[in-house]
Amino acid sequence: MIHADHVDLIRDGVSGSGSVWADFGSGSGAFTFALADLLGTDGHIYSVDQNSGALRDQAVAMRRQFPETQLHQIHGDFTQRIRLPPLDGVVAANALHFVRDQVAVLKLVRETLKPGGRLVVVEYNTDRGNQWVPNPFSFTTFVLLAEGAGFEGARQLSSRPGTFLDGMYAAVAFRVDSQTAIQATYPNNFQHLSEINH
Ligand SMILES: C[S@@+](CC[C@H](N)C(=O)[O-])C[C@H]1O[C@@H](n2cnc3c(N)ncnc32)[C@H](O)[C@@H]1O
Repeated sequence: MIHADHVDLIRDGVSGSGSVWADFGSGSGAFTFALADLLGTDGHIYSVDQNSGALRDQAVAMRRQFPETQLHQIHGDFTQRIRLPPLDGVVAANALHFVRDQVAVLKLVRETLKPGGRLVVVEYNTDRGNQWVPNPFSFTTFVLLAEGAGFEGARQLSSRPGTFLDGMYAAVAFRVDSQTAIQATYPNNFQHLSEINH
């Protein structure tokens, strides 16, 4: 896949969503660069990986390809709680399949998001792993995992056929707090309240 393919896979989950994102398990940066492209120069990207060599390579490539992107690198383990600002979104691409207890990690991801924030995953569309991809989850399974972690509105964004592990998909799910849900259902009531408060 080339850069344009990475952008196309996640575009519908990122566009118009706000500008503070993290890339969990960013590696050498394929989807960090896709985020940089989609967020533009206002974007802040918190790039998390446990591989310091990959982060170094990523920083060099980012300076070359997207010199104005505000990249904040965090060398750490995303199965543990990581200090981050409230995020508009998180991308986890080809990273969660290394984790056994995916619901536990998704709960941590959800905590990092603002109300209304979203998680975008890119994964192989299969539930059968191998030695390189130990714990993949199909889109059908992602819906269940996301619900188990408290996310709502999971839907598939795009897919890419392939011979390795049945191709890939990108999907999105939302952190919807009760206030967000009520505001979405009764927007006029909230407009009225903000008029009273001003
Ligand atoms: C297959 S690479 C994917 C890189 C990139 N997201 C992509 O799609 O090209 C998986 C990355 O996840 C990182 N990773 C796996 N488990 C991790 C963990 N628990 N905490 C932080 N990074 C992790 C690895 O170091 C590796 O860079």
